[in-house]
Amino acid sequence: MKVLVTGGAGFVGSHTVVELVAAGHEVQVVENFCNSERWIVERIERITGKALALDEVDIRDRAALLGSLQRFQPDAVIHFAALKSVSESAERPADYYDVNVAGTATLLDVMDQVGCHRIVFSSSATVYGQPDACPVAETAPVGPGNPYGRTKLIGEWLIRDCVAAPGAALHAAILRYFNPVGAHPSGLIGELPRGVPNNLAPYITQTAAGQRDYIRVFGNDYATPDGTGVRDYIHVVDLAKAHVAALGALGGRRERDLTLNLGTGRGYSVLELIETFATVVGKPIPYQLQGRRAGDIGECWADPSLANEVLGWRAEESLQDICTDAWRWQMNVAGQAG
Ligand code: NAD
Ligand code: WQD
Repeated sequence: MKVLVTGGAGFVGSHTVVELVAAGHEVQVVENFCNSERWIVERIERITGKALALDEVDIRDRAALLGSLQRFQPDAVIHFAALKSVSESAERPADYYDVNVAGTATLLDVMDQVGCHRIVFSSSATVYGQPDACPVAETAPVGPGNPYGRTKLIGEWLIRDCVAAPGAALHAAILRYFNPVGAHPSGLIGELPRGVPNNLAPYITQTAAGQRDYIRVFGNDYATPDGTGVRDYIHVVDLAKAHVAALGALGGRRERDLTLNLGTGRGYSVLELIETFATVVGKPIPYQLQGRRAGDIGECWADPSLANEVLGWRAEESLQDICTDAWRWQMNVAGQAG
């Protein structure tokens, strides 16, 4: 298939491009590089051994985006391009709605104009807010507690409404990621947070590498086994493979709107992740217990059974694999780029 990938130089997008090329798809990346580096494109080419087509376009630029799709004529789009920081979304809500909602609407309209009727959309477990119970199934109530999560949920509604429109031919897979972590085993691509990482995993690797003094553990009074937050950490390569499987599932199903949780089905605490990294790194990693982070929830992990069944996909990488690959990336590249 010819697949146009928005945000294809980003963390999840770059790993998905690698898997798409490995699966024999022809890929075109659309990027504005607001949260990624151009050298990631060369790294993707080194891993795949193939040149990667790139259009430097902002998805909000309708004319440029239309030109990109008219030239490439994609069979499908995988839509990663978005702003993704929960804390930043509270400071810059208008920007988040502009990119994540209006940008998605522009993409859908341009796709319809060029007759591209398949989309795989990056959503997030954040749409669930504070789940009533874990594991979380797709039928769990939604209730995002921040502007970022609300832009993701509106993106889902937008896509479902486009699928349901009279005479519409759109097929959509809406993928709700839990906590993507890790890096490609080559150590050439991985998570590249700008500035101080919001997320736990890159903060741990940067602390282990001596870039941070200690990890701040946000709260140890949650109703969890060791009191620290529990999350479903899924290796980014497992996540990338799920996108290739979702692409294959589109079109071959009666339902044209598929919503799937992508996680491992297992939760790990903050302290468990720190300890696993310490084992991989071969030394203790300093941390300090602090108060809860505003807006955080105690525990959230996926029921991935629907994705396992519908996609014939299952997360395979262990927490140890995640930490090993993340540490290699930190040592090989992220440390120099940071
Ligand atoms: P990322 O920031 O690494 O990648 C997003 C990419 O999109 C970046 O390369 C950025 O330059 C590009 N981009 C942003 N705005 C753009 C625009 N207007 N036009 C063109 N390109 C633009 O983020 P990620 O972690 O790879 O996340 C990818 C997707 O997955 C996002 O939609 C995000 O909301 C979603 N998601 C991420 C996580 C996570 O924890 N990483 C979890 C759940 C869902
Ligand atoms: C994980 C756990 C923290 C940092 C976020 C977004 C979500 C999605 C994934 C986009 C929690 C604790 C963290 C630190 C810590 N992104 N923590 N010290 O909050 O589950 O999800 O990223 O879709 O929308 O909300 O991930 O990595 O920030 O936190 O103790 O320095 O680690 O309290 O329990 P989170 P996280």
